[in-house]
Amino acid sequence: MAKILVAGSLNMDLRFSMKRMPLEGETVLADGLLYNPGGKGANQAAAAAKLGGDVAMLGAVGRDGFGDVLAKSLADCGCDVSALRRVTAPTGTACIYVDEQGRNSIVVIAGANAYCDTEYLKECENALEQCDILMLQLEIPYDAVWYLAKKAHALGKTVILNPAPAPDEIPESVLKCVDWLTPNETELSRLTGMPCEEPSEIGEAAAKLQTMGVRNVLVTVGSRGAYLCTAEGAELIPTEKVKAVDTTAAGDCFNGAFAVALSEGQAPEDAVRFANKAASLSVTREGAQASLPSREEIAG
Ligand code: ATP
Ligand code: RIB
Repeated sequence: MAKILVAGSLNMDLRFSMKRMPLEGETVLADGLLYNPGGKGANQAAAAAKLGGDVAMLGAVGRDGFGDVLAKSLADCGCDVSALRRVTAPTGTACIYVDEQGRNSIVVIAGANAYCDTEYLKECENALEQCDILMLQLEIPYDAVWYLAKKAHALGKTVILNPAPAPDEIPESVLKCVDWLTPNETELSRLTGMPCEEPSEIGEAAAKLQTMGVRNVLVTVGSRGAYLCTAEGAELIPTEKVKAVDTTAAGDCFNGAFAVALSEGQAPEDAVRFANKAASLSVTREGAQASLPSREEIAG
């Protein structure tokens, strides 16, 4: 099985559940508060490890209680956390509002994640050399992400970049190093400046990124599944209908599962089906890492 390396954020999620989101200037009373391990990088690493992947994580947490909990949560999923950096800054924290329909709004303070920087990643070159698949997102400094994507590509690794939270742009020199770009519709639209509501629009926007150097684009479209856009064309791979309770980390679960399937040598179409299945299970449960399914659940 190929080895997966995830470089990215770790956050403690403070999840407030409420009937409806507050309007600007309004106070609403929440009906629940949960502390959950999260962060896009850690969620993707945890998802992949829980599904049986051989996974290591690079990232930074503070020397505080949240940092301990986040490192332990990942280790408990079977992820190698031996190279995590501990710094004198508060561990990254996210405030997540979830309404009755399971929709969310998230505010993140990077904190220690700002120290998952190029200098630290250069010290972790061994981990990069040992992996086959590198998975990245955008909750750590952009420079660090661009550096690692280029380095990994030069070493012949498979690079998966989940462009979330949505950036205004990704340099073309980085896009050329990406084997799998995995935006949702909003991120795809932001990156290309094109509308991405209709299937044809998604195909056109993905094609634009492909002409800029991305090898494949995998666009997640929530309850509809995901568009697989490769050199052979674009196809929608639908997912099962489920009752969504909380979509937090659905995209992370999808990415982690997709990486595992690739690491096992599955064909891209099958890898997307596997990722859809995993993510559809995750949305039926509350929280980020708390919602991630095990391999047995996918098989069942
Ligand atoms: P988030 O930011 O909430 O983590 P995202 O916007 O990055 O998610 P989505 O496109 O909403 O990503 O969802 C990712 C994947 O999760 C989808 O491609 C699909 O496989 C699954 N998924 C999301 N929502 C649902 C749903 N309501 N029912 C079934 N599957 C879903
Ligand atoms: O993608 C979900 C994640 O985004 C949450 O766990 C939160 O920490 C934010 O980073």
